Amino acid sequence: MKRIFKWLFRIVLILLIVAFLFVFIAYWRSTNDCNRLGTAPQNPMKAIVYCDYGLGNVRLDQIEKPVPKDDEVLVRVRAASVNPYDWHFVEGTPYVMRAMGVGLRKPKDIRLGVDFAGTVEAVGKNVTQFKPGDEVFGGRGGAFAEYVCRRATGAIALKPASLTFEQAASVNIAGITALQAVRDKGKVQPGQKVLINGASGGVGTFAVQIAKSFGADVTGVCSTRNADLVRSLGADHVIDYTKEDFAKNDQRYDVILDNVPNHSLSEIRHSLTPNGKYVMIGGGGPNDNRWVGPFGRVIHTLVLSPFIGQKMGMMMAQPSTQDLTLLAEMVQSGKLKTVIDRTYKSLSEVPDAIRYLEEGHARGKVVITVE
Ligand SMILES: NC(=O)c1ccc[n+]([C@@H]2O[C@H](COP(=O)([O-])OP(=O)(O)OC[C@H]3O[C@@H](n4cnc5c(N)ncnc54)[C@H](OP(=O)(O)O)[C@@H]3O)[C@@H](O)[C@H]2O)c1
Repeated sequence: MKRIFKWLFRIVLILLIVAFLFVFIAYWRSTNDCNRLGTAPQNPMKAIVYCDYGLGNVRLDQIEKPVPKDDEVLVRVRAASVNPYDWHFVEGTPYVMRAMGVGLRKPKDIRLGVDFAGTVEAVGKNVTQFKPGDEVFGGRGGAFAEYVCRRATGAIALKPASLTFEQAASVNIAGITALQAVRDKGKVQPGQKVLINGASGGVGTFAVQIAKSFGADVTGVCSTRNADLVRSLGADHVIDYTKEDFAKNDQRYDVILDNVPNHSLSEIRHSLTPNGKYVMIGGGGPNDNRWVGPFGRVIHTLVLSPFIGQKMGMMMAQPSTQDLTLLAEMVQSGKLKTVIDRTYKSLSEVPDAIRYLEEGHARGKVVITVE
C-alpha cells in the first residue's frame, strides 16, 4: 500500500508540474497583433484598440481599413453602442474567459465594440441582400472603428428609416437579448406575471417593452430616479429597489428575467410560481467574482433544476438576422422605442463611455457617434 501511495503521489506531482508548465508557457506565448501597429497602414482607418487588458490601455489608433470578402459588406460606421460585454473584454474578467480563448496574458483580438449602425460602402461579389448606400445596423466584433466588414448573412439588417444611426446602434445586443429572453427562454404568454430585475438598463428597457407587447403583466425593478421611465415604457408595476425588496413580498411571478442577479436562488424561488421560470441574463457586474464571474451561479441553477418544478438557467443571446429584422419592424411600427442615456461624440471617447457603463447605472443605452 505504501508503495502504491508513493507512486500515486509521484504521478500526481508530475501531472501538476506538467500542467503548471503548460499554463506558464501558454501565458508567456499569449500575444496579439499589436506589434503590427508600429508600421504605417497603407489604407488607414481610425479604430479603438487595446494591446493589454485594462481600461487604461484602450486607445484610438490607425489600422488597416478592411476589405470585404466576396460574401461581406463594408460598412462606414456612423454610430456604435457600448455593452457590459465590452468591459468584460477590456478587463479580461472573469479570468476563466482568458483561458477560454480570449487571451491568457494579452487580449488575442485587439479590437473592441460590437453594436454598429452605418452606411454600406461596398459589397463583395456574392452579396445580393445589400448595395452601396444602404443604411444598416447590426453587430460585428471591432465595431468601435470607422469601418467594419460583416458577412451579409450575419447579424446585419436594413436600418428602419425612422431611427437615427445612434438609435439603431443601440439595438443589437440589448434588443436581441431581451427578445430571446422573453420569447425563447421565458416563453412569456399573454396574462403572465413577469418581473424584470434591472428594468432601466440597456437590456431591461427593451425587455419591459417586449414583454408588454407579448401581453404580459410586467413589473419592473429599478431605482427611484428611473421609476417614471420604466412606467413610461409600459410596465404595469414598478418596484423601487431602494425602498422595497421584490424577494421579500408575497407576490409570485411566472417569469423572472434577471439582469442583476443580486438575490440568492432560494430568494428567487420564493418569488416564482411553482412552475415559474427564472432566466438569468446578467452576471454580477464589476463586483462579480473575478475568477469565475457568474459561472458559479450557473452551475448552481443546473444542479438545482432537475429537482424542482421551477425552471432556472442562464441564457446566452445568439446573433440573429431574423431577430434584428423583427426588432427593426417593431421599432418601425412604434411597438418598441430605444432609450439612450448618453451619446459620446467621437471614437476617442470610447474609454469614457465604457467607464460610465461599468459604474452599472446607465439609463438605457450608451452610444458613440463616429464622426
Ligand atoms: N446573457 C446574455 O446573453 C447577455 C446579453 C447582454 C447582456 N448581458 C448581461 O446582462 C446584464 C445587463 O446588461 P445591460 O446592458 O442592461 O447593462 P446596463 O445597461 O449596464 O444595466 C444598468 C442598469 O442596471 C440597473 N441596476 C443596477 N443595480 C440594480 C439593482 N440592485 N436592482 C435593479 N436594477 C439595478 C441600473 O439601474 P439604476 O441606475 O436604477 O440602479 C441600470 O439602469 C449585464 O450583466 C450584461 O453583462 C447578458
